[in-house]
Amino acid sequence: MKLPQSVRNLTSVIGASIALISLLIILFLFSISALFDIGSSYLGIFIYIALPMVLVLGLILIPVGIIKEKNRLKKYPDEVHVKDWPVIDFNQPTVRNASIIFVAGTICFLILSAIGSYEAFHLTESDEFCGKLCHQVMEPEYTAYQESAHERVGCVECHVGSGAGWYVKSKMSGLYQVYSVLFDKYPRPIETPIHSLRPARETCEECHWTEKFYARKINTKKSYLADENTTEWDIHLMMKTSATYSAQGLQEGIHWHINPDIKIEYRAVDEGRDSIPWVRYTNLKTGEVKVYRDEAVAMPDSDIETVELRTMDCIDCHNRPSHNYLSPANFIDDYITSGEISRELPDIKVVAMDALSTEYPTVDSAMNGIDAYAKEYYEIMYPEVLKEQKELYDRALEAIKTGYRKNIFPVMKVNWTVYPNHLGHLETTGCYRCHNDRHETAKGEIISRDCNLCHDILAQGTADQLAFGTSASPLEFEHPIDINEKWRTTFCSDCHFSLY
Ligand code: HEC
Ligand code: HEC
Ligand code: HEC
Ligand code: HEC
Ligand code: HEC
Ligand code: HEC
Repeated sequence: MKLPQSVRNLTSVIGASIALISLLIILFLFSISALFDIGSSYLGIFIYIALPMVLVLGLILIPVGIIKEKNRLKKYPDEVHVKDWPVIDFNQPTVRNASIIFVAGTICFLILSAIGSYEAFHLTESDEFCGKLCHQVMEPEYTAYQESAHERVGCVECHVGSGAGWYVKSKMSGLYQVYSVLFDKYPRPIETPIHSLRPARETCEECHWTEKFYARKINTKKSYLADENTTEWDIHLMMKTSATYSAQGLQEGIHWHINPDIKIEYRAVDEGRDSIPWVRYTNLKTGEVKVYRDEAVAMPDSDIETVELRTMDCIDCHNRPSHNYLSPANFIDDYITSGEISRELPDIKVVAMDALSTEYPTVDSAMNGIDAYAKEYYEIMYPEVLKEQKELYDRALEAIKTGYRKNIFPVMKVNWTVYPNHLGHLETTGCYRCHNDRHETAKGEIISRDCNLCHDILAQGTADQLAFGTSASPLEFEHPIDINEKWRTTFCSDCHFSLY
């Protein structure tokens, strides 16, 4: 087939070959993944992103070569006479052929790249892509996500908005992320809070809306003490999520903060929003305004004005809706409750907590360290366990190690202390960041820490000696072990954050 002379140059031929070869590979991989249904995101990244980039590079080389060749031919007019502008004369077979190839090629390419971009779009929006491709970087978030109530909610539903603007924004930051992963420039742990996170209005409220009434909820917790018999300690809390009766809506209770008629703003001194010296309450209906100051956080007024003013939304309490890392005390308690870790093994919680209190550099060293610690402990203290209860022992250790792998990620330096959960106050300051009796208005009103403000204790005690109360007369809190009533004056998290 005859083509214009300028096409016959090395650069264009190389470009055409590159384009053709990558197109063939794309078609080949595509048919494999379609026929055998083995399309993983790794293959996808080749089919839809890497190879098309090579293909486009090849295509670009073709005109580059042509232009270079034309210039060369112009310099040596003896070889052939070239006009300044090409004459498109369809009577010439070379021009006709070239045009047909060009038009047909462009149409094919446009169709293919439309399909390709569509697939690339899907691919980069998939949970697999977000959670698995940068395996090591996203492993903690992805693992915790799979344990959460939102496992079926795509990463992009919370992290990327709909619409082209968000798409471009997220892919731009995505490019930077790919760069930082390739060149090992990303922070460990990954920074949080995420300032570019979509506002809760656009994420959470798509599925849970503020006006919705959530009935009060009973939260039954089983904890176990670190003693020989792993004594069970139960507590049943009636969480006052909303008002007593649905007809009263969000007038009182925990979700009162998100009542559309109310706005709560605050300023935090630190990045993690843990230390909050200034809170402002505005009633949008009556116009009432109250400003609370915590004098214990030393910061002059002029400096407070300079830090970010944040309007409270879902994320200020539910900051770990899908990536919640449990503390060892919590996940070990869960495994004891489920029976995976048997209370028949003496001292089992003590051993688990001690083994988990060491900081290990890698998961492998943690697995070995936990095994070694437990074996040595039982060899010295209860050698009969390793002989007579070997099966229970093996199962318990498997659970302890699984718990570690699901909640502690040494390489990314992630654990429950790094991303504290603000929902509660036992292990982190959580609600007590504001509800600590210290935030005061000029009139002396405080944000209360009264134990019955947020929940009523309906039952508490050891499993065989449970004391009962009612919502009308809730029980007074009793700490499972004697700590001289210190819980009245200090925060629970002062001890529980670092218990283990
Ligand atoms: C239900 C909503 C939701 C879903 C679904 C979700 N995330 Fe998140 N993600 C959040 C919130 C909220 C934060 C913390 C934001 C903050 O504190 O500013 C977060 C934080 C993160 C962080 C920052 C580090 C950290 O732990 O704080 C990463 C990385 C992340 N998410 C990745 C993912 C990946 C990957 C997926 C899907 C496998 C996913 N997220 C799914 C809501 C979600
Ligand atoms: C695409 C829909 C969707 C989005 C977006 C979403 N959720 Fe959910 N959420 C659900 C579903 C479904 C459940 C499970 C309900 C159940 O298990 O009863 C749930 C459960 C919950 C629960 C109760 C279960 C638990 O973990 O204790 C909370 C709290 C919650 N969501 C908060 C949030 C917050 C905060 C956000 C925003 C960051 C959010 N959700 C975004 C659908 C969504
Ligand atoms: C940013 C500060 C802040 C945080 C964090 C915070 N609150 Fe509040 N909360 C307030 C303010 C301000 C009030 C109003 C105090 C008043 O005027 O009595 C309030 C009032 C309440 C009330 C009483 C509402 C009523 O009138 O019935 C409950 C219940 C409550 N909060 C629960 C919680 C819980 C649970 C958490 C943690 C998950 C929490 N709060 C975290 C600022 C905060
Ligand atoms: C002041 C803190 C606070 C804010 C703000 C807040 N929540 Fe909650 N929410 C709670 C607490 C505390 C619970 C009870 C948790 C428990 O006991 O498991 C709860 C429970 C829930 C539940 C579970 C209800 C059930 O019956 O299982 C959902 C869903 C939920 N919140 C969604 C939201 C959404 C969506 C927003 C934002 C529009 C929001 N919350 C704002 C503190 C808060
Ligand atoms: C501002 C609201 C608020 C106040 C005030 C408050 N709590 Fe809580 N409390 C919570 C929330 C929220 C949780 C977490 C529920 C969950 O884990 O879903 C919680 C959990 C608990 C638990 C269960 C802990 C666990 O995980 O086993 C106990 C016990 C408890 N509170 C006791 C108290 C005592 C005692 C006081 C008074 C000194 C108090 N609370 C004051 C909101 C509050
Ligand atoms: C002075 C330190 C201290 C303070 C303050 C404190 N605790 Fe504890 N708490 C302990 C110790 C020590 C244990 C025993 C741990 C064990 O045996 O596993 C314990 C055990 C518990 C347990 C049962 C086991 C577990 O780890 O879950 C609960 C529930 C508990 N505390 C709740 C609270 C609550 C709620 C508050 C705040 C109102 C609080 N504690 C304040 C030191 C403290």
